[in-house]
Amino acid sequence: VIQINGEAVKGNEKAADPLPQTAWDPQIIAFCCNYCAFSAAALAGAKRLQYPAGVRIISVPCTGKLEMEHILEAFERGADGVLVVGCLDGGCHYVEGNLRARKRTDRIREVLEEIGLGSVRLKMVNLSDSMASLFVQQIQDIIQTVRELGPNPLGHSEKKESAGKL
Ligand code: FES
Repeated sequence: VIQINGEAVKGNEKAADPLPQTAWDPQIIAFCCNYCAFSAAALAGAKRLQYPAGVRIISVPCTGKLEMEHILEAFERGADGVLVVGCLDGGCHYVEGNLRARKRTDRIREVLEEIGLGSVRLKMVNLSDSMASLFVQQIQDIIQTVRELGPNPLGHSEKKESAGKL
């Protein structure tokens, strides 16, 4: 069982920490291919492998159907990290959809770096529908990466602006 939130409270020294890690839960969008990752996510649930509530799973028919704007919009809406999960090499049901997605995510990572958001906020991985543990591990990894980077400044300023308008 993966207990990401549990890490913040283990050990006596954490009890005195005035700002526990759980003070901010990164918001992660996981675009999951319906043929592999979405099933792996469901299997993770069936196996009671846990990941934080801040992770939103969005099913896509193939990662090759994901356009750049879908991913960029996720960041514009305040996602702290985006994970794209497609079929294994040679296993894409649309033949080369996962290869196209890889090229797209590489391009977007460059854009994210150029605009100062950080390329590591976006990651693409490949797995099969039986790889539930690996799926959860990848979620855990991107959460850890994003935690080290801090909140998405776009989402943060958006929230501040809307709070000011109320
Ligand atoms: Fe899974 Fe294309 S069908 S990535």
